[in-house]
Amino acid sequence: MNFDVKKFIERESGKLRKKVGGERAIVATSGGVDSTACAVLAHRVLGNKLKVVFIEDGLMRQDEGKSVKALLKKKGINLIILNKQREFFSSLKGLIDPEEKRKAFRDIFYKVLGRAIKEWKAKFLIQGTIAADIVETKKKIKTQHNVLSQIKIDPAKYGLEIIEPLKTIYKPEVRLVAKALGLPAQIYKRMPFPGPGLLCRVVGEVTPQRVKIVREATQIVEKHLKPLRPFQAFAVLLSDKATGISKGKRLFGNIIVIRSVESEKALKAKPTQIPYSILNKLQKEITKNIPSVVKILYDLTPKPPSTIEYI
Ligand code: XMP
Repeated sequence: MNFDVKKFIERESGKLRKKVGGERAIVATSGGVDSTACAVLAHRVLGNKLKVVFIEDGLMRQDEGKSVKALLKKKGINLIILNKQREFFSSLKGLIDPEEKRKAFRDIFYKVLGRAIKEWKAKFLIQGTIAADIVETKKKIKTQHNVLSQIKIDPAKYGLEIIEPLKTIYKPEVRLVAKALGLPAQIYKRMPFPGPGLLCRVVGEVTPQRVKIVREATQIVEKHLKPLRPFQAFAVLLSDKATGISKGKRLFGNIIVIRSVESEKALKAKPTQIPYSILNKLQKEITKNIPSVVKILYDLTPKPPSTIEYI
């Protein structure tokens, strides 16, 4: 790989310093590799002219806000958590179509950030969009939550001017940037997590109850599959139900899919060859801890024809 990480950081830092000038900026992080690297890079350049926020949208993994806050504190960054769960769930209510769900998420996401920008009298929103997000959105595969101007949506609609320091690089380079910025392996080696979070993993309507199921299952999947170091591993809740047995009685319950893939840039992916003993542990722990789940499936499809996420 012909990528000079030091030069990249220097060049992007210089551009950022020049562009922001004496103004203030906001950066939002979800705890994923891209947005965390972006927040740390921007903080190094802008110091107290930058506000780092975490939008608690109700779609994050277990205790994500707390753990990102603790991690950034070690880097001298005070993470501000904006609790907006209610707004997100009410705008997603009744939506089933994947693109409609993504668009509703994007709309509320940028409205929240637009308000934060106004309140803090900031001029710029800095975000960790990477090259793959733009490529896939432009190909119309799916509307990534953080892509606006590239699909002709004017960020000014939300009162935003956007800067994207990572938009020319892919995941492997982003990991190098995160490492060079002094982030711990727990971040730079972390599995990617999509901006719209568990929304991408709940097929059908996104309700707090349904998200809770997928969040609990995700925690179990991550715990058991982390040692295999997959590119991404998570749980998905399907919209259909299936018949099972609970306490000797018929239960028309939930279906969880385990998704684990190997990939480099997320443009293509192969399913992880998970040993049967681990799959078996997963099914036992998920059905034991989440009694509404009566079926567990393992997804064998590569990308293409599948995508990594489910919506
Ligand atoms: P797909 O499902 O398209 O995902 O194969 C490719 C990679 O992108 C992540 N992903 C997203 N990341 N905003 C993001 O920040 C999004 O809207 C989004 N959708 C998918 C996904 O987790 C995978 O790594």
